[in-house]
Amino acid sequence: MNVDLGKVDKLIDKYRDEEAAYIPLLQDINSEFRYLPRDALKRVSQKMEVPLSHLFRLATFYKSFSLVPRGEHEIQVCMGTACHVRGAPRVLNKITQQFQIYPGETTADQKFTVETVNCVGACALGPLVVFDGKYFGHLNLSRTDKLLEGYHEENKKSS
Ligand code: FES
Repeated sequence: MNVDLGKVDKLIDKYRDEEAAYIPLLQDINSEFRYLPRDALKRVSQKMEVPLSHLFRLATFYKSFSLVPRGEHEIQVCMGTACHVRGAPRVLNKITQQFQIYPGETTADQKFTVETVNCVGACALGPLVVFDGKYFGHLNLSRTDKLLEGYHEENKKSS
């Protein structure tokens, strides 16, 4: 994937005079590209004179960073115990079949990333999915279908 290094340079300039501002810089790059492209990390390493290994350490330490491209939409299926016993595996199956990906993967069109998470603290709503930060609870197969259809419709309108 080609990375617009001009965008990376602009972000670097924003933090150039701040000492050890690598984390906010990496956060900005991660939100710009929805992950941390290797070429962007190399650029930061050269321009800010920080070892690439240090940037990789930060990138792998913080869960909010990703070293692989992520989708425009993030779907997290809770697989904590309460959700699991109420049918989360069926919900997860439905979603991964629909998108033809495994948990942890992103669709080829870069639209959706599906992953599993442990308890998100809303067990009474289980089984639940967090879709772009919004909670959708009490899911069964038909509600999951409706949820996905809604996003497909929205996607068609915006594309
Ligand atoms: S187990 Fe899913 S929210 Fe707690």
